[in-house]
Amino acid sequence: MLAKAPRVGFNTWNNFGEDISDQVIRETADKMVELGLRDAGYEYLVIDDCWSKRERDPVTGKIVPDETKFPNGMKAVSDYVHSKGLKFGMYSCDGVMTCARYPASFDHEFLDAQTFAEYGVDFLKYDNCYRPRTVDQALLYRRMSAALKASGREILFSACNWGDVEVETWARSAGIHMYRSTGDINDSFESFKNIALSQINRDPVIDWTRPVDELHETLRADGGSCSNAPGCFNDIDMLTVGMFGKGNVANKGCDATDYKTQFALWCFMGAPLMLGADLRNFLKPSFKPMLDLVTNKGLIALDQDEECRPAFRATNQPWGKGPLVLGRLLSGGDIAVGFFNLGENDSRMYLYFETLGIPDAAGINLEMTDVMTGEDFGVKREFVDIVVPKHDCRVFRCKPVSR
Ligand code: GAL
Repeated sequence: MLAKAPRVGFNTWNNFGEDISDQVIRETADKMVELGLRDAGYEYLVIDDCWSKRERDPVTGKIVPDETKFPNGMKAVSDYVHSKGLKFGMYSCDGVMTCARYPASFDHEFLDAQTFAEYGVDFLKYDNCYRPRTVDQALLYRRMSAALKASGREILFSACNWGDVEVETWARSAGIHMYRSTGDINDSFESFKNIALSQINRDPVIDWTRPVDELHETLRADGGSCSNAPGCFNDIDMLTVGMFGKGNVANKGCDATDYKTQFALWCFMGAPLMLGADLRNFLKPSFKPMLDLVTNKGLIALDQDEECRPAFRATNQPWGKGPLVLGRLLSGGDIAVGFFNLGENDSRMYLYFETLGIPDAAGINLEMTDVMTGEDFGVKREFVDIVVPKHDCRVFRCKPVSR
């Protein structure tokens, strides 16, 4: 099965934008191996938008790689990526042009899928710009899905329609392996905070003046990720971890604490992990904390948990101001809990185990281990409270044990 767990890799868009080339891809592939990223699970190297000439070949009708960027053609790039033990990804769009106005696949789906198969592509990101407005999106995604299947090559299908027309309700039936449920990320704390909260904002409006018992009924946090399951995952966009305010989606930039929280949120939500920073920086000693973060075994194991269940909100604390407590049921009976302080002040955060489904009367305590450090956090009864500095987070794996 393609996509048994959320996909992990690298995509060119966040850092390079249109400045992609044969050299950039080869150097990135080299770094993915040299930095140990491939061995940590980063498998796909994906070229995003801007790889082709502005016009299709007038004779064959095919999209043609830009030969100033890719002078050896695309098959050579793909072969190089494969020679490094990685998989190769590319990009197109369901409209008449890609978002950056290059030729796209509308009404050329089968020809383009064939071309991607000839290149040796293993992954196709499929965008949603310049689509004829009268045509149904689900139909166009089904069409490319069928074209990829007919190409004779196993190609993972990554849809990017930004969560439009409730994609999570039809992504699986359209043959999609991961579906973007958000608009574009940029390199700032606000951007990834809003993305994380957008996974929760589909909740009914919560009236915090109501008694806590009634509030429990309204605590839902599955948002766009409710279809997260083996074979098809909720994609909340490529990571900006390690960009530090530079690159194609540069904004204010983030600090190391922000990036820790971003990566932990993506892992907690079981999202695809596509790095976006320029990996050629990651050998510098100052980037060591970033490399350690994105290869953290505990977080990656959480992301890849085999039951692939979505997270749920696990607090009755008003969260709009910052504290966000998430829970997630894991394979083997453990429960993950994450305390994410998305506010601007250090905060004492609470979790009553009742909201995880464990009332005190059940006679069960939780044995808590810090996911990132492996440290034992002790055995807790009924609730836990913890001070989390602003923008920071703590993530635990909890084992239910009888008292
Ligand atoms: C956007 C997409 C981005 C990137 C960009 C390329 O629609 O969300 O992730 O692919 O197009 O132009």
